[in-house]
Amino acid sequence: MGKNYKIAVIAGDGIGPEVAREALKILQVVAEKEEFKYETIEYDFGGERYLRTGEALPGSALEELKEVDAIYLGAIGHPDVKTGILEQGILLKIRFGLDQYINFRPVKLYPGVWTPLKDKGPKEIDFVVIRENTEGLYLGMGGFVKKGTEDEIAIQEMVNTRKGVERCIRYAFEYTKKRNKESKLTLCDKANVLVFAHDLWQRVFEEVGEEYPSIKKDHAFVDAVCMWMVKNPEWFDVIVTCNMFGDIITDLGAMIQGGMGIAAGGNINPEGVSMFEPIHGSAPKYTGKNVINPLAAISAMGMLLQHLGEKKGADLVDKAIARTLSSGKIKDLSTQSGLKTDEIGDMIVKSII
Ligand code: IPM
Ligand code: MN
Repeated sequence: MGKNYKIAVIAGDGIGPEVAREALKILQVVAEKEEFKYETIEYDFGGERYLRTGEALPGSALEELKEVDAIYLGAIGHPDVKTGILEQGILLKIRFGLDQYINFRPVKLYPGVWTPLKDKGPKEIDFVVIRENTEGLYLGMGGFVKKGTEDEIAIQEMVNTRKGVERCIRYAFEYTKKRNKESKLTLCDKANVLVFAHDLWQRVFEEVGEEYPSIKKDHAFVDAVCMWMVKNPEWFDVIVTCNMFGDIITDLGAMIQGGMGIAAGGNINPEGVSMFEPIHGSAPKYTGKNVINPLAAISAMGMLLQHLGEKKGADLVDKAIARTLSSGKIKDLSTQSGLKTDEIGDMIVKSII
């Protein structure tokens, strides 16, 4: 008899609920096949609730989220709420509050998906970005002096703790070993300019790296990483990087793997509760139109299953996505595919065999 998982679902704003619905459909099918049970606990956090109550995420909710096996997030962002409030108040609050110190982002081109890179295919575009997820420029340390005047100073600190950097780099080495592709880990930094912050990253990378003699250690500055991701993506196996650079290069990664319609990520606390989400936003103008492709959301559900230890279930989802995409039935991952959100969800359900 399988397990009984508790899964928190934050469907969120805009098209979040539509794509989350499809992902949950997939979860149900996989659970039946793999014979595990689950219960979902739905939370209505998002723009609507914030506008109604003035509260983005109550403190008590964080405590509740600490008790579940995993969190599934649809999308956050509302046109009537000032930029930053929901991002800080929900997404970052959960990442920080649950100490989800790894942002795990596969960049994988499925067969049958169009990439803007000439002469590159699924063989060349298949790597993982491991982004530090709780420190760096995201911590929110800093402030204004003489705000609103001509002499204004705005400072945002880039915070790097030895412990924070080390746990991220160690996770990346462990994962590179486990992934067992080319056993190559690339440190992406800007140590030629950020001579304190990224000096620490380089020293820790070297030190921890000594414990992993079988892993090839590679290094590239972040600007060069952007260049190589476009020119020679096949050079990468696993990339480890800080929070801000990880944010930027994973959007580039999403584009070379076919766009936001397919990119998913995990916010992972290896010792605690993790959260999985499609990378795309809430796309407010498409809300309720049933035109957004739910593959990124479904892929995030696959990652959640993998994380729970349901490896066969995760594999079923991944293979179903790959099979559907290589069949050529989905011509386009944007809103122009001519297919409805639930139609694509149903196609994946049928491909789970
Ligand atoms: C992401 C997003 C978030 C980030 C935003 C919404 C705060 O862009 O998950 O990559 O910057 O981390
Ligand atoms: Mn981002």
